[in-house]
Amino acid sequence: MLLFLDTANIEEIKEIATWGVLDGVTTNPSLVGKEGKEFKRLVKDICKIVSGPVSAEVVSTDTEAMIKEGRDIATWAENVVIKCPLTAPGLAATKALHRDGIKVNVTLCFSVNQAILAARAGATFVSPFVGRLDDINEDGMALVEQIVEVFHIHGLTTKVLAASIRTPLHVTRAALAGADIATIPYKVFKQLVSHPLTDKGLAAFLSDWDKASQSFAGSSAQTSNPRS
Ligand code: E4P
Repeated sequence: MLLFLDTANIEEIKEIATWGVLDGVTTNPSLVGKEGKEFKRLVKDICKIVSGPVSAEVVSTDTEAMIKEGRDIATWAENVVIKCPLTAPGLAATKALHRDGIKVNVTLCFSVNQAILAARAGATFVSPFVGRLDDINEDGMALVEQIVEVFHIHGLTTKVLAASIRTPLHVTRAALAGADIATIPYKVFKQLVSHPLTDKGLAAFLSDWDKASQSFAGSSAQTSNPRS
């Protein structure tokens, strides 16, 4: 499963990129709005840091305007992916952008039927929102599992991008469900690497090494002194 970072914050992206495991970035209008920076500049900057796909969302709601916006955003960087909402106009825009050879991530997916429509429209990625379904007392991860299964049964090649990830357990479950990608917020990404037993184990190894080094130093000082 590929790992994307769900943020528009440059510092967060730079930090996680140093780990060597960052496959892409997803943004949305809310995340971009929080940064207080010009959209085009921000997307171009993110695309320079990350070589994998970077999703940037259209904000128009009718097909023609979405196509126009998507075609423009697609010129900003080689690795930019256009995010279109899972609406009827969004599907039509996805189809048109796909015909142009532009990659589309169809976002705000909350049902298997919506995911099938996105795939048939030519989406490169479809994003089922796990956390937002959990928020309304539904099982968000069950949706990911069902989409993965249906795409497998029917040979649909659209990548399943588990989104609205809120916890490390969501990441594990997305991987077990066979999601192609999980897009993960910065805070959860940081939680993925941490384990108290790793910290405790490392502290013990280093402390043992320090003690051993002192005794090596003592014995080598003894053997290197010809009068001893
Ligand atoms: C995905 O592309 C979205 O940006 C994101 O995962 C939404 O997550 P949220 O439901 O936590 O806002």
